[in-house]
This record gives sequence, structure tokens and C-alpha cells, in this order.
Amino acid sequence: MEELAQVKEKIKDFILELEDKKSIELFDYLAFGKMLRAKLIFKIAGFNKTSLELSAIIEMIHAASLLHDDVIDEANTRRGQESINSKYDNKTAIMFGDILYSKAFSKLALLNQEIANIVANAVSLLSMGELQDVELSKKFNNSYDLYLEMIYNKTASLIEASAKSAAILAKKNIQNFALYGKNLGLAFQMIDDILDITQDSQTLGKPALLDFVEGKVTVPYLFLWQRLEDKEDKKILENLFKKPLEQKEQTWIKQKMQTSKALVDSINLAKKLGLEAKEAIKDEPNAKDLGEIILAMIDRDF
Ligand code: IPE
Ligand code: IPE
Ligand code: MG
Ligand code: MG
Ligand code: MG
Repeated sequence: MEELAQVKEKIKDFILELEDKKSIELFDYLAFGKMLRAKLIFKIAGFNKTSLELSAIIEMIHAASLLHDDVIDEANTRRGQESINSKYDNKTAIMFGDILYSKAFSKLALLNQEIANIVANAVSLLSMGELQDVELSKKFNNSYDLYLEMIYNKTASLIEASAKSAAILAKKNIQNFALYGKNLGLAFQMIDDILDITQDSQTLGKPALLDFVEGKVTVPYLFLWQRLEDKEDKKILENLFKKPLEQKEQTWIKQKMQTSKALVDSINLAKKLGLEAKEAIKDEPNAKDLGEIILAMIDRDF
């Protein structure tokens, strides 16, 4: 069986152990995503019993974080179908998220103490990052540093922990892989923030152009705000913040993103972080394979 199919099987086995009809129903409804974190782990640690378990654990944790994230962001689609918070309700999404988290943690505890510590710490950071995201969304955030700290916590920390843990399993240089994972994770979230603007929801499998409506001043908006020289334009952007956008307002934003080069420079920044990730593992024997994962995480349409 193909590697990623085995990850899905493994997660299903973990869920079946719960012997809970509702959890099985919800799991069967849950769609799988790109599984980039599992792919990353296999590229670093190879495919074996332990790396398979680690991948299943990480993908469960990631799925749990998305269940909660869709409640927080009030999103109604995920992975190409109605999200659980929308199809069922927020309470179901929250508790099923908790079920996935706790099952993943119980498996993690049996895996390896050092890895358990690294991954559990990353989940604390992820949750603090989601909370920072909520806090930053209360008013127009024009600080790049705060944005960077927040995306490190909510997204890069788990990708860094995945790379680090895989390096431990494979007895590779932990520091190099941590740096690789961190920069890869930062770039990955920036690309996610860019795709929210450039893609439609059909392609994304989740709502498009939702970030700014939800109060998220992501990197393209931040660059745009910095570059709008005309006071009137700056005002227009600030006034559109956290409001449902009409068609012509969406067009205005997209046009300004193009002319100010805010969008292309955001993409370039993500690429630069990708290069830093590449640099961190340049002396590894499978540097080429690891470079491919960077490409898959950055050069993507959804
Ligand atoms: C979405 O992650 C949330 C972010 C951290 C940007 P992915 O884009 O990896 O989602 P799936 O797993 O492929 O659905
Ligand atoms: C990442 O942020 C979510 C997590 C780290 C859980 P987003 O809110 O941008 O993720 P999407 O766009 O909904 O997948
Ligand atoms: Mg979201
Ligand atoms: Mg979110
Ligand atoms: Mg997003």
C-alpha cells in the first residue's frame, strides 16, 4: 500500500480503538488534505513503523487544529466539503478536535519521550499562535514582527517539530532540520495567506478572501498598507478591514496588490524563506529530496 494510504489506515485504527460510534462517524466524514507533514517526515526519516506512527500522530494533531481553526475563523468549508462546524455545529467540531488531540497524545506518549516533548510543546505554541491570531485581528495590525511571531507559533512550530522529530528518528542533525522546518513552516503559512487572495474557494477547498474579512492583516495586506502612499487609499483599505467585501472592493484590493507589488513581494519573501530552508540542509545526503518538499510546499495552487 502506498505510504500516505497507510497513514490514513493508521489514523483509522487509532480512532477505532476509541470504540465510539460518533467519533467513527465524524472521522469517516473528515476528508484528508495534502498530507505535507507526513510527506516531510518520510522524506527525512524514511518509511518504517515508527515514522508511520509519527506521521499519523502529526496528521491527527493537524486535523484537530483545523477543526478548531474553522470554529475560530467561522469557515464553512474545509478540504473541499462542508466543514464540521458548519455541517454539525461548533460544539461537535471542538469536542471532536479534542478527541483527535488526546488520542494523538496518548500514542505520542508511547512513541519516544524526546519526540513527545517536542511535539507537545509545538502544540502549546500552535494554540498560543491561534490565540495571538485572534488578538491581532481585533484591530488593524501593521506590525510585521507580530505577524511573524504569530505565524511561527500557529503553523511553523508544528512543521519544525515534525522535521526535528523525524531527524531524531533518523539520527540526523537535529539543529539543521529544526531550522529547515522552521523556515519551511513560515514560508508555508505565507503562501497560505497569499493563496487566500489569489485563488478561488473551489480550488482551495476552503473559503477564499476570508482572511481580511476576519480581521487578518496577512503579509500581502501588510505590504500593501505600507506601500499605499496616497492617504485616501490607506483610509480605504483600513475601512474595508473586517467587513464583508463587495465585488468592486475585492477588485480594488486585488488591483492595488498588483500595482504596489505587495503580492509579488510576499511571494518572493516566501521563496527567500524556502531558500533559507534549503541552505539549512544543503550538506544532507538527501538534500535533493528535501528540496522537492520545499517546492511542493511553496509552489502550490491550494
Ligand atoms: C492548512 O494547512 C492550515 C495551515 C497551517 C496553513 P494545510 O494546507 O496543510 O491543510 P491540508 O492538510 O492540506 O488540508
Ligand atoms: C492556520 O491558519 C491554521 C492553523 C495553524 C491551525 P489559517 O486560518 O490561515 O488556516 P486555513 O487557511 O483556515 O487553512
Ligand atoms: Mg482558517
Ligand atoms: Mg485561522
Ligand atoms: Mg489561511
